[in-house]
Amino acid sequence: MRAVDLILKKKSGEAMTQPEIAWLVDGFVKGAVPDYQMAAWMMAVCFQGMNQAETAALTDAMIRSGDTVDLSALPGVKVDKHSTGGVGDTTTLVVAPLVAACGGTVAKMSGRGLGHTGGTLDKLESIPGVNIEIPIRRFFEIVHKTGLCVMGQTETLVPADRRMYALRDVTGTVSSIPLIASSVMSKKIAAGADAIVLDVKVGTGAFMQTIEEARTLARAMVDIGTHMGRRTVAIITDMNQPLGMAVGNGLEVREAIELLSGKIPESDPLYEVSMLLAAHMLLLAGLAADEAEAREKLRRALQSGAGLEKLSMMLLALGGDVACIHAPDMLCAVREKLPVTLGRAGYVSAMRAERIGVAAQLLGAGRATKADRIDPAVGLVMHKRHGMHVAADEPIATLYVNDPSHAAEAAELVRRSVTLSEQAPAHAPMVYDVIA
Ligand code: URA
Ligand code: CA
Repeated sequence: MRAVDLILKKKSGEAMTQPEIAWLVDGFVKGAVPDYQMAAWMMAVCFQGMNQAETAALTDAMIRSGDTVDLSALPGVKVDKHSTGGVGDTTTLVVAPLVAACGGTVAKMSGRGLGHTGGTLDKLESIPGVNIEIPIRRFFEIVHKTGLCVMGQTETLVPADRRMYALRDVTGTVSSIPLIASSVMSKKIAAGADAIVLDVKVGTGAFMQTIEEARTLARAMVDIGTHMGRRTVAIITDMNQPLGMAVGNGLEVREAIELLSGKIPESDPLYEVSMLLAAHMLLLAGLAADEAEAREKLRRALQSGAGLEKLSMMLLALGGDVACIHAPDMLCAVREKLPVTLGRAGYVSAMRAERIGVAAQLLGAGRATKADRIDPAVGLVMHKRHGMHVAADEPIATLYVNDPSHAAEAAELVRRSVTLSEQAPAHAPMVYDVIA
């Protein structure tokens, strides 16, 4: 086989066979297929797409590029969740402890932030002492003891994805549905979960800009999961504003702790999306007969403090200082807190969530390059959501700042992320669809 023939085949819109895809991925990982040919092929995929069988073959080839984790020694149905990435999305730190408190087993491998905000690992590392680069043996011990653990994805898990993503990032080939679907699902399947709940984000802060695109991505991922014998459900949720009020690592951990402490109302979007994700995890794990029962169990785990206790146990096992459970302000101690006002009044009718993410990144909450160090305490807290009224001199957000050099730019980005209207806008839903 020659790589150039496979590029030409995809370029002309023909479907590739399973052996062709396996050959290409294997050759790329071993260095026989150079970066420029892989990049050209992925660009052809961006324009021509891939059918279900091709996407499954690509996922399978990517999984085979490295090691897989066997979780069968752990009790029960191992259930994982994944979000396609959004701003202020702290759901993992809420959902994993609640599901564990309801008897679920959550053994989760997590990555670092790809774009403007940190990933779950970066958030956990904002807690003093936490070490998520633990040996897999220790990961199993913690899950056995507490029902949950999040660890850093090992280097040997899906190396094809790491190398393909690095190329996609610099060749304009990130936003292809089959490439995203195979990237996400290869990692989830290789990490060993029996059941997977996917949160597909749609809106200004997400990869997918329309509900139709999000549905197509959700179906592609559910098809792959089902094809590989994993119970898979996707929910499609709104990312036209940050999900939580907090954007930044320690700030988001504080918000997750507040939610698990019962301090955030049920009407809050972070609460709503977390509960829905957790309910589907319980359903897939066979721990509830229907959604109503799942929600009732979760509500009890929250109100009794059992969820917060699970988070505390996991943090302790990872070497973390659990004083933050009762004093979460310690996670976001900064030199300066700067209010951002708009200088005009109105109802928040639209937000550009990605700009708010970039503002937090400028303050040091995310990486512009892989080598950048994250400042765990900085970021911003929004005070207003879609539909709320804001007065001219009322802060719409507070910046948490240690290094003031980009504070003015960050404040301006927050200001430019908000559109005001004279009349209250129509209520915007948080959840658009559930795809099973
Ligand atoms: N997240 C991933 O893991 N992979 C993608 O391709 C996009 C988002
Ligand atoms: Ca995330």
